[in-house]
Amino acid sequence: MCGIVAYIGCEKAGPVLFDTLKRLEYRGYDSAGVAIKSNEEIEVIKSAGKIADLEKIYVSLGSPGETIGIGHTRWATHGRPSDSNAHPFISGQIAIVHNGIIENYLDLRELLTEMGFVFSSETDSEVLAHLINLYYKEDLSEAVARALAQVEGSYAVAVLAAGSPYLVCARKDSPLVLGVGDGATYVASDVPALLPYTRNVVRMKDGEIARLYRDRIDIFDLEGRPQSHQVETIEWDMDAAEKGGYTHFMLKEIHEQPRAIRETFSGRISEIEGDVRLSLGLSESEIRSLERVTIIACGTSYHAGLLAKYLFVRAAGLPVEVEMASEFQHLQVRPRTLILGITQSGETADTLLALKKARTCGVRSLAITNVVGSTVTELVDGTIYTRCGPEIGVAATKTFTGQLIALILLAIRLGRARGHLTPDQARKMIVELTRLPGLVQRVLEKREEIRKIAEDYSGAECYFFIGRDFLYPIALEGALKMKEIAYIPSEGYAGGELKHGPLALITEETPVVALATCGKKIQSNIKEVKARGADVVALATEGDPDIGKVANVVIELPETRPVFSAVLCSVVVQLLSYYTADKLGLPIDKPRNLAKCVTVE
Ligand code: G6P
Repeated sequence: MCGIVAYIGCEKAGPVLFDTLKRLEYRGYDSAGVAIKSNEEIEVIKSAGKIADLEKIYVSLGSPGETIGIGHTRWATHGRPSDSNAHPFISGQIAIVHNGIIENYLDLRELLTEMGFVFSSETDSEVLAHLINLYYKEDLSEAVARALAQVEGSYAVAVLAAGSPYLVCARKDSPLVLGVGDGATYVASDVPALLPYTRNVVRMKDGEIARLYRDRIDIFDLEGRPQSHQVETIEWDMDAAEKGGYTHFMLKEIHEQPRAIRETFSGRISEIEGDVRLSLGLSESEIRSLERVTIIACGTSYHAGLLAKYLFVRAAGLPVEVEMASEFQHLQVRPRTLILGITQSGETADTLLALKKARTCGVRSLAITNVVGSTVTELVDGTIYTRCGPEIGVAATKTFTGQLIALILLAIRLGRARGHLTPDQARKMIVELTRLPGLVQRVLEKREEIRKIAEDYSGAECYFFIGRDFLYPIALEGALKMKEIAYIPSEGYAGGELKHGPLALITEETPVVALATCGKKIQSNIKEVKARGADVVALATEGDPDIGKVANVVIELPETRPVFSAVLCSVVVQLLSYYTADKLGLPIDKPRNLAKCVTVE
C-alpha cells in the first residue's frame, strides 16, 4: 500500500513531487523518496519517516534536480520501513517507484542476482528496477513492457531513465491517474493529489503503459499497440479535497454526511412511483429469480454489509450472507446468488480477489463503491456509486453512511422488483430517506454534548458497544472506530450475546455504549451491565420515558424508522471515537499501522 507520483514539465520537479506526495500520505506514510533528473544523471533522495522530513533534506541539499522526477510514499509490506527499503530504486540509469506486490519476486531476484545485479533492499519492488535496466537499450517504454511481461502480481509503476526524454508509467490491479496540465504532465495514485495542478485527468486501465511528455501522453498495451484514452474533467472543488477549516479530515468528513447522504439518493428516488431508479445490469426476471445475496467486504464496509442482512430479508424477501472478503476463498457460491461487493475505495485487494473468484461461479454481481472507475467496477455486472466525494481520513465515516444509504436504495429496488414491497411501503421508506439529511444535521449539532461524554470516559480501559437488530452492526462499527483511532480496546456485541462471556469483562472501568433506539429489549442488557458496575451511555429516541431510569447518560436522537436510526447512531459513535482520540492527542487522520486503502492480501 503506497502512493506514487511523477512529473514532467517546465518547473523544478522537486517541489511538485513533494506537494503531490503529501496529498497521498493517507495511502502510506512510513517512508518516502524522490528521484529527479539532474545533468543527465538521476539524483535520489529517500528516507524512513515523513514526507515533510524528506523535504527538509531535499532543501538542505540545495533543492537539486531539473524538471522531470518521480516520487513515492510507502506503507511497508515486504521489508520494514527503512531508508534502504524506501523507493525509488535505482539500477544503472533507471529509477522506479512501485505500488503493489510482485508475487514472483523471489524467483526474479534469484535470477537477477545470478546475472550480477546487486540488491540494496528487502523489497519486492527492486526487481522491477533491475529487470527494466536489463532490457533498456534506447526505448524505455519497450524495456518496461518487457519487464512487466515477466512480473506476476499487481503494480502501478512510474519509471525515469537518465537518457530518456519521457517518463513511463503502467498499471495492473493498482490505481493510477494521469494529469494533463498546461505544458506539464502528472502522475498520481489518486485524483486529489493532482487537483492543485489540473482538473483534466486520464484514468489508466489495467494492462496499459504510458509515455509521458510535457505536452503529450501516448498510451499502449503491453504489446506496444496504441490505445485511445479519454480526458475526464474533475468537477469537485479543491475544497472537497482539503480540510476546509476542520482540525482533521475525519471531523470534516463526519460533518459532510448530510450532503453525502443527499447526493447518494438524489435523482434515484421517485416518491410518486414509490420506487428507486438504479440500473443494476440485471434483468427484472433475474432479480425475481434470486434466492439469496452474498455480500463480500472488509472492515467498515463489512459492517455496512451486516445491516443489509437485517434489511434485505424484510424489504425484499432475500436472505443475506455477509462474508469477510479474505475468508471468501474458502467458501462456495450457490446458484441464484447475487454477489455484492462493498468497498469504498474500490481497490481493496481482498475484496477484488473474492469478486474475481465469484465471477468464475457464473452468478451475477454488483458493487457499491465511492470511487468512479475504480478496479472493482470492472469485476461486476453493475455498480452503485455512493457520492460522498473523496475521503481522506483513514477511518471511514461518510463513505460508511453512504454505503448504508446505497443499501437502503438497493433494498427498495429489489423489494419492488420482486413484489415484496408495495409502492406505498416503498414510498414511506423514501419519504423517511429524504428527511434523513436533516436528522443527521440535528445529530451533528449535538457535537459538544458528545465531546464532553467522550472526554469524561477517555481514560476507559475498555469500551463496549451493544445493539440489537439494525443497531448490532453499528455496535461493531462503534467498537472498530474506538480501536482504530483512539487505540482503546473495544468490543461490539449483540445485546443478547453479552451474557454469554463478555459480561465477565464488565467493571467500573468499562463504559458501555448502548444503542437503544430500536426496541425495548436492550434495556434488560443495560440493567445487566449496570448491575456489574459499568456506566452506560445510551443512544435513545427523543422522549423515551424509560431510558433515563436505567442509563447514566442519555444522548437523545430524533425519531425515525429503525433502519434510519442506524445511520443516526453511526454519526454518534463516529463523534464519540473522534473526540476520545482528540482528547488523547492521537494522530486521528493517520492512525498507527493502518492505511486507507489496503491493496495487498
Ligand atoms: C482499510 C481501512 C478501513 C476500511 C477497509 C476496507 O482497512 O483502514 O477503514 O474499512 O480498508 O476498505 P474499502 O475501501 O474496501 O471499503
